[in-house]
Amino acid sequence: MGNLNEQWRLIARPDDEASVDHFEVSESEKPVPGDNEVLVRNLYLFIPPSMRLWMNEKESYFPAQQLGEVMMGITLGVVEESNSSDLEVGTYVNGMGGWQNWFVTQSDQLQPVSPHPDIPLETYRTVLDVQGLTAYQGITEVCKPKTGETLVVTAAAGSVGSLACQIGKIMGAKVIGIAGGAEKCDWLTSECGIDAAIDYKSENVAERLDELVPEGIDMIYENVGGPIMDALLDRINDHARIALCGLISSYNGGGVQSTTSLNQIVIKTARIEGFLVRDYMHEYERVIPILQDWVLSNKLKYKVEVIDGGISATIGAMSNIFHGRNKGVQLVRF
Ligand SMILES: NC(=O)c1ccc[n+]([C@@H]2O[C@H](COP(=O)([O-])OP(=O)(O)OC[C@H]3O[C@@H](n4cnc5c(N)ncnc54)[C@H](OP(=O)(O)O)[C@@H]3O)[C@@H](O)[C@H]2O)c1
Repeated sequence: MGNLNEQWRLIARPDDEASVDHFEVSESEKPVPGDNEVLVRNLYLFIPPSMRLWMNEKESYFPAQQLGEVMMGITLGVVEESNSSDLEVGTYVNGMGGWQNWFVTQSDQLQPVSPHPDIPLETYRTVLDVQGLTAYQGITEVCKPKTGETLVVTAAAGSVGSLACQIGKIMGAKVIGIAGGAEKCDWLTSECGIDAAIDYKSENVAERLDELVPEGIDMIYENVGGPIMDALLDRINDHARIALCGLISSYNGGGVQSTTSLNQIVIKTARIEGFLVRDYMHEYERVIPILQDWVLSNKLKYKVEVIDGGISATIGAMSNIFHGRNKGVQLVRF
């Protein structure tokens, strides 16, 4: 790497999955911080499914990625040079560092990270960061579980889903997870301690739901959408709560939702609520220590998959997510 800053710029918008052809790679001198600025070296790039949505022309919850600009990316880095009295050299920081080795920014654009000595650093860009906050707020503020109620979580072995499952359990719910493959389902039941898991790739989801939750579904933590969500909505109870966290099955284009199943929202006087973690950032300082305590006491299990290979590994890491090849939260190490 030397002192050259490798940068990946989006030059074409993908219709389906992103590939190297949608990017231009350049190298320039390491940037120099100005007054009150800091220079950050990116250590990890977090790979959320929604990064694919940022590449579309239509804005998502972020303004659309501009063509020709360095690709946006959620990073964990270290301050290498500082002209700011707020951040010392050597401080770990979370930020929007993008697909590049270094970036320069104001200190108020960064969130300092102070890792607990018994928890790996990368956990602070995943579980003990927005993923954890998303799961916690979706369960506690949108689903609002009561003891003994039934909760079904989709993409249940994913980073948000697996945390949502376990937080649901901690809150006293009966929890069913839906995930792809026996290995992921075993991990959810044996390690994460949920009541049952459905392998949507080899099992009939509707039939298994009838077996596992004959009493009906009180809460859905929805990450996927499409036919799986239809099968869940068909089985909701009166006053069910549906936390619409994401619809990953549609992110590469396509995706169909049945209006018949949506009609269940009316018939069951249910509440479906889309939510974004950015609306809960004011809870960050309160919630992350709770999650950290659960991690330390082994109440919250998680898997972080660190992928080596630098920025070029990002495309493969994104593809892993959309094909369920990821085993936990994915981070690319720069
Ligand atoms: N609302 C918010 O503020 C917020 C914040 C963060 C994330 N999210 C959303 O939360 C969801 C999960 O994100 P994450 O970071 O936890 O993802 P993740 O850990 O990367 O897991 C994604 C998983 O989704 C499953 N999947 C992918 N394509 C699928 C499809 N077509 N049908 C069914 N399952 C599919 C795969 O698991 P299988 O092997 O089980 O198929 C994959 O491993 C996404 O929809 C994301 O956009 C929302």
